Amino acid sequence: MQLRNSPSRYGLVSIVLHWGVALAVFGLFGLGLWMVDLGYYDPWRKAGPDLHKSIGLVLLAVMLVRVVWRFISPPPPAPANHGKVTRLASKLGHLALYLGLFAVMVAGYLISTADGVGIPVFGLFEVPALISDLPDQADTAGVIHLWLAWGIVIFAVLHGLAALKHHFIDRDATLTRMLGRKA
Ligand code: HEM
Repeated sequence: MQLRNSPSRYGLVSIVLHWGVALAVFGLFGLGLWMVDLGYYDPWRKAGPDLHKSIGLVLLAVMLVRVVWRFISPPPPAPANHGKVTRLASKLGHLALYLGLFAVMVAGYLISTADGVGIPVFGLFEVPALISDLPDQADTAGVIHLWLAWGIVIFAVLHGLAALKHHFIDRDATLTRMLGRKA
């Protein structure tokens, strides 16, 4: 299978990045909601947030690679049956998902660095606390993080439903292209 995108379909790199990021986002969401309600003596009370932050920061790096890859190998154009409104809506939707993802991860970073301590990533290395003295940093970033997390997950579900609509109703290649099939 080709690595790069072509005018008719996505390449392996874009497909792995797409589904890998989707998996990480839903996983982080579930882990995040679960971990904040853990009891004081629960062994996962520390391990949960550590795992969440480690995966979250790796995801941040992966998303930066994904943006660069988008310039190296641009995505295929929209299927021919997509009208002007659909093309605009999908462009704006994808942009909102990208911006929302970066914003939720930056907010997560700001929660974690509010105490001025760096974030260990899987115990292998540490991401330094570059910003730690914003007013009410942890609380404000925490509220923003939660709302953005819900917003992204709801948006991602709508994005998925739109792909299913294109597949089962419009019967076009929108979904199959992201599954590696040729349009
Ligand atoms: C797509 C990426 C992410 C999603 C969807 C996500 C989602 C969530 C959710 C749903 C919560 C629970 C919030 C609450 O109930 O108050 C949470 C908590 C948290 N997240 Fe994330 N997160 C992401 C990335 C990150 C990153 C990159 C970091 C840090 C580097 C991070 C750090 C935290 C911290 C420290 C908490 C605990 C906040 C508290 O104890 O109130 N998250 N996250």
